[in-house]
Amino acid sequence: MSVLVISNQKGGVGKSTLTVLFAHWLADKHGASVCVVDLDAQCNCSKSLARFGGAGEASSLFSTEPVVPSAAAPSSITLLKGSKRLADLELARPDAVIPLFRRQVAALSKAYDFVLVDTPPALGLRMSAALIAADAVLCPIELEEYSIDGVTDMLKTLFGVQKRYNPRLRLAGIVANRFNPHSVRQKAALHELVANYSEFVLPAKISTRSAIPEGLAAGVPVWQLAKTSARDASEELFKVFELVLQRMRADVPVALEEGAA
Ligand SMILES: Nc1ncnc2c1ncn2[C@@H]1O[C@H](COP(=O)(O)OP(=O)(O)OP(=O)(O)O)[C@@H](O)[C@H]1O
Ligand SMILES: [Mg+2]
Repeated sequence: MSVLVISNQKGGVGKSTLTVLFAHWLADKHGASVCVVDLDAQCNCSKSLARFGGAGEASSLFSTEPVVPSAAAPSSITLLKGSKRLADLELARPDAVIPLFRRQVAALSKAYDFVLVDTPPALGLRMSAALIAADAVLCPIELEEYSIDGVTDMLKTLFGVQKRYNPRLRLAGIVANRFNPHSVRQKAALHELVANYSEFVLPAKISTRSAIPEGLAAGVPVWQLAKTSARDASEELFKVFELVLQRMRADVPVALEEGAA
């Protein structure tokens, strides 16, 4: 249970933010060696983790080129960075490149304690490849209009991949991000979501806090900033990350079920 894909077809829900912060948390608080794979040509996650680059490009994972960096030290992050080249992969033959990616990610998972894969906001070849190579998937969502419909679509996608290509795929959780506790609409949406998908939605949420992007822009996790809003943000994030790790480590992990989608 070491390959976690952070995924949602919807854009701007916090995939890259949570990938970066979860990587820092696993390395800082659990002494883990973490490999972050940025599959998005926007390279947001690579910008925030720029100081951990140098190990190569994520696009190489779709080839036979050897990519596994030699030594994975404890409490370390290794970035396989995104590049414009990734977008071209959408035109490649899936049956030619997805098995290569799957094999390369399996090799990474032997070398590192955790492999985190950030995906682009589109159900294309790269997202399919990531889900096919994954042990678990974390889905950040925003509690805005149509969020419930979006969750249903996402569960259908995950179930389809699990059934056809990757029976070991587990859902590490759906997590509400950029939550506004003062919004009646968002509170109602969260309530509806928990009522419909109680087994999938994590019993924790992450509020909108300016300290989160401030930390990312400075290249440090929010818990290294000395301000009240950073402390509040960190508390929420730690709770979410503990739950994700618990679910990844659970003897009986949360499985997707046919009825769910
Ligand atoms: N909890 C939060 N509080 C404040 N800002 C946040 C929070 N989560 C994410 N953001 C900000 O929202 C924006 C979108 O987040 P992010 O880039 O992580 O989303 P994404 O799902 O990766 O987007 P894309 O689909 O484009 O890759 C970023 O500017 C990020 O800093
Ligand atoms: Mg992103």
